[in-house]
Amino acid sequence: MGKKEILLSPIKIGTHTSVNRFFCQAMECTDADTDGNPSDLTYQRYENLFKGEAGMVSLEAITITDKNRSRLNQLFIMPKNQPALTRFVSHLKKINPKTIFIFQLTHSGELSNPEFSKRLSVKPLPGFTADVFTEDAFEKIMADFVLAARIAYDSGANGIDMKFCHGYLGSQILRPYNTRKWKYGGKWENRRQFAFDLYERIQKAVPDKNFLIGSKISVWEGFPGGFGTAGPDTPVIDLTEPIDLVKGLEERGAQYFIQSAGSPSITISLTQADKEHPYFAYLHQYFAKVFRDNLKKETVVIGSNYSVFGKGKNKLHAVNSEDSALLAYGAQNITKGYTDMVALGRQSFADPLLPKKLREGREDEINYCTACDNCLELLIQQSPIGCCTYNKYYTDVLVNTRKEKGKLTVDHT
Ligand SMILES: Cc1cc2nc3c(=O)[nH]c(=O)nc-3n(C[C@H](O)[C@H](O)[C@H](O)COP(=O)(O)O)c2cc1C
Ligand code: SF4
Repeated sequence: MGKKEILLSPIKIGTHTSVNRFFCQAMECTDADTDGNPSDLTYQRYENLFKGEAGMVSLEAITITDKNRSRLNQLFIMPKNQPALTRFVSHLKKINPKTIFIFQLTHSGELSNPEFSKRLSVKPLPGFTADVFTEDAFEKIMADFVLAARIAYDSGANGIDMKFCHGYLGSQILRPYNTRKWKYGGKWENRRQFAFDLYERIQKAVPDKNFLIGSKISVWEGFPGGFGTAGPDTPVIDLTEPIDLVKGLEERGAQYFIQSAGSPSITISLTQADKEHPYFAYLHQYFAKVFRDNLKKETVVIGSNYSVFGKGKNKLHAVNSEDSALLAYGAQNITKGYTDMVALGRQSFADPLLPKKLREGREDEINYCTACDNCLELLIQQSPIGCCTYNKYYTDVLVNTRKEKGKLTVDHT
């Protein structure tokens, strides 16, 4: 099979079928209205993704509480938001009923922005200041996650991604650095129980086999005591815990996993390989393979960090550019059994219509992400986000943001 046939072949996820192997990543864009509901800009972004025919689209990180969040204009998933979310899903499903739509549920924990919300932590990392939460406060967070899953279901979403990546609350509990003495701290059996309890409680609240549940996981956070390390004070990779986690969640009903790595506020180049350090992406392909090798065939693995491969004109050495272009390389990784689906993060900003263009034989019209990371600059500056290279609206947002707030150099070192 050629790359086009591989990438456009369907795959089963639980009781659903993704029409192709493209997964549009959760990409928060700080453009919700003041109630945390989708704005016109939010609508436009997702309309484009649904028109683009990706088999599966993830809603960006939607916060289960307006009290602890990292983005000023973040989407909320609280009871007050259900009518707006229901309208949003129904509108998108009319555009393309085949696209599987999942919501990424999050709580920012110690990454909440103190300028407008409260930082909460299980045990603050060196250099981070946050209030340490009580066990009662944590029980409320667990209940809010379960409630949010129910709201997602009632709004018409096809499933949820219970977020365990990028340093947000899920990662904070799971990592070996969480040595605090409490029911979800210390030894691995305690830390993993947090995720297991959450899955079990969510499935009781939404007893419907058609509702997908899975997680995006930072397999290795890349700093001492981060998830996927050998202990609370070492950065050395040890994947025993991540492997045990995905197997345990699979037993508890997970139908898919999105592999990721890093914690962007600490190890940004690891979370999203940039044009100067594209080879970090290779680590992701290894982590996806580790998931693939340890899970049942029917559990879908979604590998990430493909944007940097672009059209093949990247700074990867010792490869020929044709093989190291996103589509060819992604298809090869599916054939080799490293991943089942190819996740598009920044690339989904650069060209939300990629899958459709490929299907229609318009591959030469695809706009490839240049990994310039201007969209990341907008995220850090809390401006509305999109591709500043191919979408004039966001080029202007970038120019105005720099005028108002100064130019920001994203530190990839
Ligand atoms: C502007 C921006 C927003 C992002 N928002 C999210 C998010 O809401 N949830 C998430 O898990 N990852 C988020 N990410 C990370 C991406 O989903 C993805 O994991 C990362 O960019 C690597 O994929 P890529 O190389 O295809 O871009 C974001 C990245 C960027 C640049
Ligand atoms: S702004 Fe740059 S990094 Fe972001 S999507 Fe566009 S080309 Fe890619």
